[in-house]
Amino acid sequence: MLKPQLHQSHLSTKIPFLLPKPFIHGSGHASFPVYSRSLSTKANKKVRAGYKHGSIKSIASVTQQSTDVKAVVTVKQTVVDFWTEIGIERGLDDFTDLFGKTLLLELVSAELDPKTGLEKPSIRGYAHKIDHEGEDIKYEADFVVPPDFGEIGAIFVENEHHKEMYLHDVVLNGFPAGPVHSYLPSETPNGLAKLRKEELETLQGNDNGERKKGERIYDYDVYNDLGNPDSDPETARPVIGGEEHPYPRRCRTGRPRTESDPLTETRSSSFYVPRDEEFSEIKMGTFSAKTLKSVLHALVPSLSTAIVDSDLGFPFFSSIDALFNEGINLPPLKKQGFWKDLLPNLFRAITDGTKDVLKFETPDTMERDRFFWFRDEEFARQTLSGLNPCTIKMVTEWPLRSKLDPEIYGPQESAITTEMVEQEIKGFMTCGEAVKAQKLFILDYHDLFLPFVSKIRELKGTTLYGSRTLFFLTHEGTLRPLAIELTRPPMDGKPQWKQVFRPAWHSTGVWLWRLAKAHVLAHELRTHCCTEPYIIAAHRQLSEMHPIYRLLHPHFRYTMEINALARQYLINAKGIIETSFFPGKYSMELSSVVYDQEWRFDYEALPKDLINRAMAVEDPSAPHGLKLMVEDYPYANDGLVLWDIIKEWVSDYVNHYYSDSSLIVSDNELQAWWTEVRTVGHADKKDEPWWPVLKTPQDLIETLTTIIWIASGHHAAVNFGQYTYAGYFPNRPTTARMNMPTEDPNDELLKLFWEKPEVILLTTFPSQIQATTVMAILDVLSNHSPDEEYLGQQIEPPWTEEPAINAAFLKFNGRLKEFEGIIDGRNADNKLKNRNGAGVVPYELLKPFSEPGVTGKGVPYSISI
Ligand SMILES: [Fe+2]
Repeated sequence: MLKPQLHQSHLSTKIPFLLPKPFIHGSGHASFPVYSRSLSTKANKKVRAGYKHGSIKSIASVTQQSTDVKAVVTVKQTVVDFWTEIGIERGLDDFTDLFGKTLLLELVSAELDPKTGLEKPSIRGYAHKIDHEGEDIKYEADFVVPPDFGEIGAIFVENEHHKEMYLHDVVLNGFPAGPVHSYLPSETPNGLAKLRKEELETLQGNDNGERKKGERIYDYDVYNDLGNPDSDPETARPVIGGEEHPYPRRCRTGRPRTESDPLTETRSSSFYVPRDEEFSEIKMGTFSAKTLKSVLHALVPSLSTAIVDSDLGFPFFSSIDALFNEGINLPPLKKQGFWKDLLPNLFRAITDGTKDVLKFETPDTMERDRFFWFRDEEFARQTLSGLNPCTIKMVTEWPLRSKLDPEIYGPQESAITTEMVEQEIKGFMTCGEAVKAQKLFILDYHDLFLPFVSKIRELKGTTLYGSRTLFFLTHEGTLRPLAIELTRPPMDGKPQWKQVFRPAWHSTGVWLWRLAKAHVLAHELRTHCCTEPYIIAAHRQLSEMHPIYRLLHPHFRYTMEINALARQYLINAKGIIETSFFPGKYSMELSSVVYDQEWRFDYEALPKDLINRAMAVEDPSAPHGLKLMVEDYPYANDGLVLWDIIKEWVSDYVNHYYSDSSLIVSDNELQAWWTEVRTVGHADKKDEPWWPVLKTPQDLIETLTTIIWIASGHHAAVNFGQYTYAGYFPNRPTTARMNMPTEDPNDELLKLFWEKPEVILLTTFPSQIQATTVMAILDVLSNHSPDEEYLGQQIEPPWTEEPAINAAFLKFNGRLKEFEGIIDGRNADNKLKNRNGAGVVPYELLKPFSEPGVTGKGVPYSISI
């Protein structure tokens, strides 16, 4: 995306300062962080929008002479402009441009008038359109700055056009290069103090009324807009967020409540997000999220038309392969070739003039090894380096036991016995020795899923088990699956059922083992929802001139908009997640249980997460102060390097602005931000004792590193491998549709299992419509758009303003480049068998940089898809 910036230029020096996504509206609302004190008094279409902060030093105070200043404003043509260039509105704007009355600039002094103690009058001037070159439109304004004006602290820009503009930058010529600072609240220049306060009040708004498109207000609400009970009572869903279903808060939209349920908010065709959080429309079509929207809007309905029977499974494995070879014929759209333009990866072939053929890309895993999904060592390897490497835990207590109430869920003892383990590891050690030697690991979805089994099984075409999968760490440093235990709680008058499946040397056992693997379903709490409160609180409590706002800002890019899109199409009632993933209409309730039971802010930090899962112990002599229980744990090994690189950058940054703890304690904006994150954004966890408090620079460094790690490294690790590992869905089915044939065996079922076990497996897998919908979406989710912004690749304009920060960033960037080489080296090391081997996809998910497309690498700054 374009880097909006306001900078001064003198000779060849340019000093940029932060201007996140400046849009100027002509719709009656300012759309980017601006001082908008005059908004309410301005007539419609005359919107005052302004740049604030910055302290360009005027030479006036040095020379005691008036200074001639030329401001050059660069505006980028938006896609809307492009398509409506000859439209009425454009015509009107061109007409006003002729008279030079379209962009009003005001220079604001950083100083108060010493005589009155009030803000000095600003210096106003209209900018004239001087040039139109490609996407760039340039405006110029001349000012005479009197000698006693002092430093320029802010610029207001008022758009008098009839529509929104994308303001790219403002350059002030005629000033000497001078530092432009971020200010802690206590250091704010007097002339800007009032503006700083007023701007935050504007962004906080009041919690009344419905938010309109173009507004800039950030506020909180619960997830109460996922269902639409007025039009379909079946979509009524409980409120997620609050005592009953704890959850982080979302951005408040304030739409009216439904008639049938006063707790539920009505849905609408577009969900409000503050204007600055919306995707830029400058290069529409290149944004992954735009593509996602189109896929959800157009492709998913087309798939339902093409695949008429929604329950239909795949009859043969060859029909799954056909998705990659022959493709699916989709009903023709009005615009031939539309799909190919939109999804060039998926629509690689248009066979003739009458139909569009959806042909899936072959995932890298399949490309390298046709049978990767069938093999046990790959199943185990993916717990350490697949798309969900954050669930595996070391076994610290034996025997395994449930903590659930036996009255409701049946006996707590696991059916995986010491004898079973010893049969598998015989010759190496006893079970007791294996636990002691820290060689047993587990994927444990037992207690989490068991309470949902009965109600999820009531949903059509869905089944579920509580599951435990046990692994043994071999002498080669790889994991070997020992057993899968599947449990059904007592239900429908039947007692608890549980069975252990193990790798076998007889065909029946092999097939049962393979079926059991298809029932090991995973669930991950969306990192997206947990991050939104940090963003809302930052906008409400941290001024844009606050250094911590400026540090965090690139990590917030597009997250709120992608989350709003998810509420519209993915996590909504009868949306994609509900129809294609096993928890069905209980998806958000299950997510809430995960949040309630497992989410802790301090465990979001990678080192603490590893220690919590007993995958590491503290060891001052080890490289990152941690000894890993699985030495070759690719996610952890690469993640810890990245964690350290981020932490060093954050430390340099924080230590520059906060030389001692007193500055942290007395920073009222910073304290208000963090208090709001804890007590409002994550209100359902506000009384937890584990929340860090911000008292020292170390507290702040750890907190910020955690937030940045989740938005960048962690999200990349769990997001960009989705198509690689789940694109061939038998490797990672999203739902199971049929029980194990041994659960309630009957003659017919056993006969089928005996004669055609493959049919049982194919019927257990997702249906055709579920599988193809998820595949198309995973392809888009795993894709980097051409305008992706990668962690530490480009310096943010405001970071260049302080030499110390500039130098710290260069070091950060250098270490990231070096890290790429470290990853390449690790992937080439034959000893690291969890990331290297015949047919194995190398572990690159934490490699910082990437080309566009589905590349299985690249760490963007933010959760933008
Ligand atoms: Fe994501």
